[in-house]
Amino acid sequence: MELNTIIFNLEADIATVTFNRPKALNALSSELLREFAQVLDNLATNEAVRALILTGSGDKAFVAGADITELATFNALQAKLFAKAGHDVLGRLQTLPIPVIAAVNGYALGGGTEVALACDFIYASENAMFGLPEIKLGLIPGFGGTQRLSRLIGKNMAKEMIFTGKMVPAAEAQQLGLVNKVLPQASLMESTLETAREITARGRVSLRAAKEAINDGTDVDLASGCKMEIDAFALCVASEDAKEGTAAFLEKREAKFTGKLS
Ligand code: CAA
Repeated sequence: MELNTIIFNLEADIATVTFNRPKALNALSSELLREFAQVLDNLATNEAVRALILTGSGDKAFVAGADITELATFNALQAKLFAKAGHDVLGRLQTLPIPVIAAVNGYALGGGTEVALACDFIYASENAMFGLPEIKLGLIPGFGGTQRLSRLIGKNMAKEMIFTGKMVPAAEAQQLGLVNKVLPQASLMESTLETAREITARGRVSLRAAKEAINDGTDVDLASGCKMEIDAFALCVASEDAKEGTAAFLEKREAKFTGKLS
């Protein structure tokens, strides 16, 4: 697969996608969205990959939003198709059956914050800045920001960020519950990889079940979410990983998970 706007790297079983349009602060063009969708499609069926990290090239930006040069030329129909393409790719990202961590290494504005919001959680460098500044362009967020941000940090906090379009530094984003950990820029990737390695040592089946139960369960009422958890728990118990995990505990040894879907 030839990629112009993304760098794909695989280290052991952990993949890294680096958004790579440094001259435009890694802004999301149509081409980048298409390439990202292709990469995600491949990852969804690649059993050798156990986790994904997203980051931006350089030390200034993760992603500075949708490409405004391109956006400025759109009519309503083109804008609708562009927003649909963004929603589609971020939907695929959110439902990818492996854990996804955003390593936000600078500006994550507009579509950049929206990409990070579709990941399972976010680590940020001390210089990272989050925000949904679309209001300053006479727009609103178009890649899920009005929906995912309010679900994560609450409606009123999300409204303040979206109505003002203000930038929120990493430390404040952590207080809001948007960011899990703030790290020096120099150690962001290594710390993110360390967490990814800790996660990939766990069983594939249970990781997948936990992600699905949390994602699907938080959008329904508590009773329906708990029912999803019961079914997912039962499926996990029937897996080889669960047999290995419980046997390893009883035999006082480290579990060696195979991740077999049986
Ligand atoms: N699209 C296209 N180009 C962009 C861009 C974007 N979103 N953000 C930055 N760039 C370009 C700049 O035009 C500039 O290019 P030139 O060197 O050719 O002039 C280059 O990247 C460097 O940017 P700046 O000179 O502006 O750098 P700065 O340090 O002064 O400011 C910044 C950095 C605060 C991030 C500023 O670039 C900025 O505000 N960018 C736009 C952020 C934004 O509004 N994002 C929302 C986009 S709309 C959206 O995302 C909709 C949606 O929900 C999908």
